[in-house]
Amino acid sequence: MGERLEGRQVSLWVATAGGTGYPCLDSDLEVDVAVVGGGIAGLTAALALKRAGHTVAVLEAARIGTGVTGHTTGKVTSLHRLVYTELADLHGPDVAGRYGQANQAAIEHIARVVAEEGIDCNFRRVSNYTYAESDDALTRVRDEAALAARLGLPSVFTSDTPLPFAVRGAVRFDGQAQLHAVKYLQGLARAVDGGGSHVLEDSRVTSVRDGVPAVVETGRGTVRAREVIIATNVPVGDGGLFAERCYLHRSYIVACLAPAAPLDGTFISVDEPMRSILAIDVDGSRYVLTGGEGHRAAETADAAVRYRRLAVFSRERLGTRETSFRWSTQDTMPVDGLPYAGTLTPTAGHVHVITGLRKWGLTNGTAAALVLADTLTGRHNPWAAVFDTNRIPATGQAVGKSGHPDQSQPDQPTVAGLRPGEGAVVEIDGEMTAVYAGPAGELLAASAICTHLGCTVAFNADDSTWDCPCHGSRFAADGAVIQGPAAVNLAPRPAPR
Ligand SMILES: Cc1cc2nc3c(=O)[nH]c(=O)nc-3n(C[C@H](O)[C@H](O)[C@H](O)COP(=O)(O)OP(=O)(O)OC[C@H]3O[C@@H](n4cnc5c(N)ncnc54)[C@H](O)[C@@H]3O)c2cc1C
Ligand code: FES
Repeated sequence: MGERLEGRQVSLWVATAGGTGYPCLDSDLEVDVAVVGGGIAGLTAALALKRAGHTVAVLEAARIGTGVTGHTTGKVTSLHRLVYTELADLHGPDVAGRYGQANQAAIEHIARVVAEEGIDCNFRRVSNYTYAESDDALTRVRDEAALAARLGLPSVFTSDTPLPFAVRGAVRFDGQAQLHAVKYLQGLARAVDGGGSHVLEDSRVTSVRDGVPAVVETGRGTVRAREVIIATNVPVGDGGLFAERCYLHRSYIVACLAPAAPLDGTFISVDEPMRSILAIDVDGSRYVLTGGEGHRAAETADAAVRYRRLAVFSRERLGTRETSFRWSTQDTMPVDGLPYAGTLTPTAGHVHVITGLRKWGLTNGTAAALVLADTLTGRHNPWAAVFDTNRIPATGQAVGKSGHPDQSQPDQPTVAGLRPGEGAVVEIDGEMTAVYAGPAGELLAASAICTHLGCTVAFNADDSTWDCPCHGSRFAADGAVIQGPAAVNLAPRPAPR
């Protein structure tokens, strides 16, 4: 402990994409469709709707590509570890097959958009592998390969992979891809903006009201639209509906300088600890990304230990050198394994949502966006029922058991013990207060009560944020909301003395 971690704490994608400078919403606007959230789901939907002849406005709270998509691994694939076995067990082979078709279609959609819009985003066709090192995992990859082939997916079983270590066997899907996620999003945004459509940054949406028109409020302006799509990962302003059907899962990634020989393919292990691997050349440097060390966002985590384990794996098994970048992020995991794209509630008329992309949102988010774009333009979409927000849970599914954490406070740290950069929840005058010590030791204080549904936030020392363990809302050190479902900042409190 105490040893400095290698690498800059920023995602490779965010660090190497360059910035964007779209204006914020500072007056009222009318469009056909308002899209809340400038990640892959929101921007894909916005572009598809613009291409279908609608005017759109994308409202992004921060900058394009700074959300979960900017912190992804970058695999564009329909092989999601052992997803077909899992989905066939839960929902039957028909649903598993349609999930696969939707994701295959998403890969081809991304390839087409990259070509048609001329997006320079390191898009590259590769094979994707789920590999096994143990006997048990070998049986599972054999079964997955056979099932996926029966479902019509480009699946084969192989014992031969480009990995620099031997594996017992693997499922291989050919014709998959990888990309630079932020450059792709920036390309989508360029294609959306203009001709009566708008990309607006630094425009946090505080409320969405259904109606004719539907009304989207930000602090500085209002958008009126026929239809609204909420694509904020965790739906902003969700009253608890999706919070009960999804849980948040966090993972960590290190990008290490790679050996000269390219690693051709993307990979994920069946055996634990799970490792996800992708290699990419950016700005003249070759990196290997290794992801894993996932845990429910509600659980506490020693991020430094997790980054070190990933770096050791990368060095020892993949032959990489030092870590250049490290980052972590969290995604929404649907309890029944299927993403959501449809109306926000069963009675909603004009407000739609995309969520539950289960850590495979480059394709799931693209597919979900195309489902909504088809729905809003009156076109049949063959996968709409699989993604339906009002679906009846599969028998035996644990909907509602989204794992709300124990909110008891085991120990009571004191403000006096805080060193610069540290934070703690302390009780001050009977109120749970989130206290952060800035770089010079100055104290910032805010209520520790999450503005979504009232859970107590906890300090995330890795990112210097206040994270809510219940449904994933995140707040900056000063209490400003970063990620929903909360739409409102933590209430300010006087700095303690
Ligand atoms: C570690 C990790 C690795 C992953 N690797 C892969 C991978 O290799 N391949 C793959 O397919 N998937 C991967 N995923 C999953 C994938 O990255 C996500 O599912 C996907 O990027 C989510 O996209 P999104 O558009 O829903 O969310 P986001 O990209 O988070 O976009 C939502 C946007 O909404 C904005 N927003 C939030 N609140 C508001 C508000 N109130 N008003 C306005 N804007 C708001 C946010 O700022 C954000 O930009 C990974 C996930 C993790 C956690
Ligand atoms: S995110 Fe729901 S209570 Fe905090």
